[in-house]
Amino acid sequence: MAIAIRQLQKHFVGEVSGLDLRQPLTPDQAREIEAAMDQYAVLVFHGQDITDAQQMVFALNFGERENPRGGNVIKQGEHRLDSPLNDVSNLGKDGKPLPREHRTHLFNLGNCLWHSDSSFRPVPAKFSLLSARVVNPKGGNTEFADMRAAYDALDDETKAEIADLICEHSLMYSRGSLGFTEYSDEEKEMFKPVLQRLVRTHPVHRRKSLYLSSHAGRVLGMSMPEGRLLLRDLNEHATQPEFVYVHKWTLHDLVMWDNRQTMHRVRRYDQSQPRDMRRATVAGTEPTVAQQQAAE
Ligand SMILES: [Fe+2]
Repeated sequence: MAIAIRQLQKHFVGEVSGLDLRQPLTPDQAREIEAAMDQYAVLVFHGQDITDAQQMVFALNFGERENPRGGNVIKQGEHRLDSPLNDVSNLGKDGKPLPREHRTHLFNLGNCLWHSDSSFRPVPAKFSLLSARVVNPKGGNTEFADMRAAYDALDDETKAEIADLICEHSLMYSRGSLGFTEYSDEEKEMFKPVLQRLVRTHPVHRRKSLYLSSHAGRVLGMSMPEGRLLLRDLNEHATQPEFVYVHKWTLHDLVMWDNRQTMHRVRRYDQSQPRDMRRATVAGTEPTVAQQQAAE
């Protein structure tokens, strides 16, 4: 059966049919999906009842697995999954929703802020692939914003102003904006800010996109308030409904997105009920800017 793709939003997002992700892709199919990712930036697959291993095999068509170290406050031995997937559920090791005051839960609430996965790493993530294993009864939509269309819609003066700007990104900035500010010395070291360009160019089709994320907390060469106001204005611009797709999850949906061209956030949901989402993350291949500039 041939792959078919239907566009779901004016600017981006393709709904894919004609693929069974329990089966390995042929090289032609993998190339077709990668090309579709370049074009649509988000792809939606319905009815994919896959295992963790099958999800990882599918992800590895597009690059290497990202090392998850340094992405969370969860401690060794507390992990619920023993597979290579990132656990983005609200569940503890016992399979039950984490208590409301649990530190991991409070930290994970940061996913409700607009972000690009792993922008806090020197080499940020390429693709994320999220599989819905248990859907929460209330809320929990994931929203995506097309950062290419958002960039294109900026006026020329703003484009010139931001062309070469560099931002500091850290998990401590995104969590700090929600009032989560307590870290061990080890975590502070792990979450040290990294640098990212504010405008990045896609390596294949060369379209530019705004590289925003709630992890961004400082613009080099600007005072903290001035930089944060600029980032806030750009975020407001980029997340207007015009650039946004809202995904309402059904069981066994798999959604994959390009972190280089989109931002996303999860909406609040019923934390007393389970939401089991598992993510395979494909590593990026290069930094957006040389990290030596951190010393300036
Ligand atoms: Fe995310």
